[in-house]
Amino acid sequence: MRRRTFYAIVSLALLSWAGLTFHLFLQRPQGKVHRSSKLNDQLDLLELELQKQLRSNEELLIKLRSLKKKNIAQEKDSKSEEIIKESNSTSVKPSPIIGVLVFSCNRITIKRNLDQLLKYRPSKEQFPIVVSQDCGHEPTTKVIQSYGDQLTLIRQPDQSDIPLVGKEKKFKGYYKIARHYGWALNKTFHGFNYDTMIIVEDDLDISPDFFEYFLALYPILKSDLTLWCISAWNDNGKNGMVAENPEILHRSDFFPGLGWMLTKDLWLELQNKWPKAFWDDWIRQPAQRKERACIRPEISRTKTFGKVGVSNGLFYEKHLKFIRLNDKFVPFTQKDLSYLKKDNYDVEFVKLVYGTPAVTVQQLTKGSLSHSNPVRVTYTSKDTFKKAAKALGIMDDFKSGVPRTGYRGVVSFLYKRRWVYLAPTAEWKGYDSTWS
Ligand SMILES: *[C@@H]1O[C@H](CO)[C@@H](O)[C@H](O)[C@H]1NC(C)=O
Ligand SMILES: *[C@@H]1O[C@H](CO)[C@@H](O)[C@H](O)[C@H]1NC(C)=O
Repeated sequence: MRRRTFYAIVSLALLSWAGLTFHLFLQRPQGKVHRSSKLNDQLDLLELELQKQLRSNEELLIKLRSLKKKNIAQEKDSKSEEIIKESNSTSVKPSPIIGVLVFSCNRITIKRNLDQLLKYRPSKEQFPIVVSQDCGHEPTTKVIQSYGDQLTLIRQPDQSDIPLVGKEKKFKGYYKIARHYGWALNKTFHGFNYDTMIIVEDDLDISPDFFEYFLALYPILKSDLTLWCISAWNDNGKNGMVAENPEILHRSDFFPGLGWMLTKDLWLELQNKWPKAFWDDWIRQPAQRKERACIRPEISRTKTFGKVGVSNGLFYEKHLKFIRLNDKFVPFTQKDLSYLKKDNYDVEFVKLVYGTPAVTVQQLTKGSLSHSNPVRVTYTSKDTFKKAAKALGIMDDFKSGVPRTGYRGVVSFLYKRRWVYLAPTAEWKGYDSTWS
């Protein structure tokens, strides 16, 4: 930037000098000199102009000197960083534009979500919000429109009925959701041409560092091709089961959703085979996931507040209600997060998990261990996993063979303030997609 300003100033000075010389040349009388009064007037005018030019050149010179001084001072502050920047001015990347797509239907409580998005959004230009509404529910439309130009409202045009027969009928809601998602993702990636998008639903509370989190992980999502999403959600992130450190982040083979970021490249991959229903289970299948992982936080950056919806309220009462929402701002963009890249992460992860002493579930539940260090619990089958998960209070289901929050088969969580790794044996060969 500074270098560019420097060049701009120098070119400006040169240009005005060239302009002036040219001007003088043109005005020089040809042939015989008749010092008429008209010529005298012109010479006076030129003199004035010349003085003006000299003055502005002097001002430019002063500005240039002060810039140079500032540059030297900053170079002293962060020498190595400056050298990198100076040697490669194109490597100073502009901030990315990340669209925020909010899904809406008929809940006027979307206000609660939108208020928070606007409260924590650091920049309207960097994080344009698009609310996509299905269902055509007028009161909800009114709420969204009340935000004026703070966001953009788009409406899913196809309100036709989806004909279903027999048992499928009761899943109509899921068909409508998949139709809405497909349309809105197409609209924002192609119509608005966003390169990256954060997906949010209308019933989510968000944490103060929600945008900071996604912004900091954006370069990692773009550069590590073994990642396909950044999620704000920890499926096992209940109160009392998470570490008291909002900085901790993990890799996860389980697609968590609930506030997540994807790139256009992923959408181009999915757009032509988008399913008619149950898109989140579909996306978790091996044909879509292709062994890619997501980043998830230890303490969730989102939390659902709505009970009424397509998925049943019981799940909210029994589980979602207890998820801990982070309330501290972590300046993630100032941290080195490269440890999350697969090449750095996996070796350390395997060393950590399998270097941890193995114990039994009974030892943990009875509290018969004499220390509070991390431990590992081994599972060898779907059933032993489920039994251990139930006893230790974590989610016990699988999607396409992957347990919630699992990474390389390992589920990490806190049990009675102790890190526990529920892990397969070290010879693990991959997920068995028949486990459910
Ligand atoms: C300069 O920046 C570009 C783009 O970020 C990068 O590809 C290139 O390797 C950099 N060159 C040097 C010499 O650092
Ligand atoms: C998205 O748009 C593309 C190109 O127009 C189309 O081929 C694709 O079927 C659309 N996908 C969805 C889910 O609407």
